[in-house]
Amino acid sequence: MRLWTKYTLKKGLSKKFQQKKHATFEDFEKAMGGYESNEYYSNIRVFFDRYFDERKKIWDNFLNKNLNKNQTILSLATGRGINELKLINEKFNITCSDLKVPECFNASKNIFGDFKYIEKNILQSSSEVKYDCIMVFSLIHIFSSEELKVFFNNVSDSLNEKGSLLLDFGGAEDNLYSFFYHDFYLKIEAVLIQFFGKLFKNPYDIITRHHGYRHKNNEIFEIAKLNGFKLVTFEQNDHKTEFERSKIISLLIKKIPFIRYFFYFLGKKLPFLRMAKFEKIANV
Ligand SMILES: C[S@@+](CC[C@H](N)C(=O)[O-])C[C@H]1O[C@@H](n2cnc3c(N)ncnc32)[C@H](O)[C@@H]1O
Repeated sequence: MRLWTKYTLKKGLSKKFQQKKHATFEDFEKAMGGYESNEYYSNIRVFFDRYFDERKKIWDNFLNKNLNKNQTILSLATGRGINELKLINEKFNITCSDLKVPECFNASKNIFGDFKYIEKNILQSSSEVKYDCIMVFSLIHIFSSEELKVFFNNVSDSLNEKGSLLLDFGGAEDNLYSFFYHDFYLKIEAVLIQFFGKLFKNPYDIITRHHGYRHKNNEIFEIAKLNGFKLVTFEQNDHKTEFERSKIISLLIKKIPFIRYFFYFLGKKLPFLRMAKFEKIANV
C-alpha cells in the first residue's frame, strides 16, 4: 500500500495549500461534481448521453459478462449510479447504496421507475439482508490495508453462500511506474508550472490532497483470500486516464497527436481500471 497524493493547479497567488482526505458523504459528493438532479434527468437518452462515458462503458461490459438477472445484487458506493441505472433499465435486480441517499434518487426513479437506494457504510457493518452478488466500483482506493480487511470481511458477511463480488480497484496499481509518475513526475510538473506561471505573470496555486492509497494487485488478492474469497477473473483496461492528469503530456498529445501512441504504450504499465470477480468459497 502506498499513500496516493494528488497535486492540482488552480489560478491563484503562487501559494501552496494542503487539503484533507475526503471523509464525509458531502466531501465525496463534491469531488464527484455533485449528486443533484439536473436537466439531464429529462429522459433516459439524455441521461446516458451525458453520463455514460468511456469508463462506464468498460465497466458495463465487465458487469454484463459477470451478472445475471436472477441474482439479488447490492451496489456499494453507488453515488449517482450510472452503471446501476443502466442495469436497472435492463431489468437486473439491484439495490443501490451509499453513505447517504443522494438528492438525484427521486429524479432517477422518475425516469427509470421504482428501485431501492439505502444508506450503507461498509466499514461500519455488514448488510442484514444477504445478496447473491455485491458490486463495488471506485471505492477501495479510499481504504488503507487495515480498512480493506474490514471491507472484505463485511462484504463476505453480506453475501449468500457462493455469492460473488465484482470489484473495481479504483485506479492504478502501486508499482514502480505509478510511484515514479505520481510521486515524482506529477509533483515536479506542478512545481515547474507554478514557477514559470509566476515568471510570466500567470500565477498558480498548488493544492496537495491525500486522495487515498494505491494497492498492489497481490495485496488485494491476498486480503480477499484471507476473507474466504477465490479470484475468478481479473481484467485491466484504460491506458489513458493516468496521463490525462498531466498538463504537459495532455498538451503534447494535443499538439503532436501521434505521440499519444507512445503514452498509451507506457500506460499499459499503469492501467486505471482493474476489475476482478471473486467468489465466496468459505465463511471466515
Ligand atoms: C469515487 S465515488 C464513486 C461513486 C460511483 N461508484 C462511481 O464510480 O461513479 C466514491 C463513493 O463512495 C462512497 N463511500 C465512501 N466511503 C464509503 C464507505 N465506507 N462505505 C460505502 N460507501 C462509501 C462515497 O460517498 C462516494 O459516493
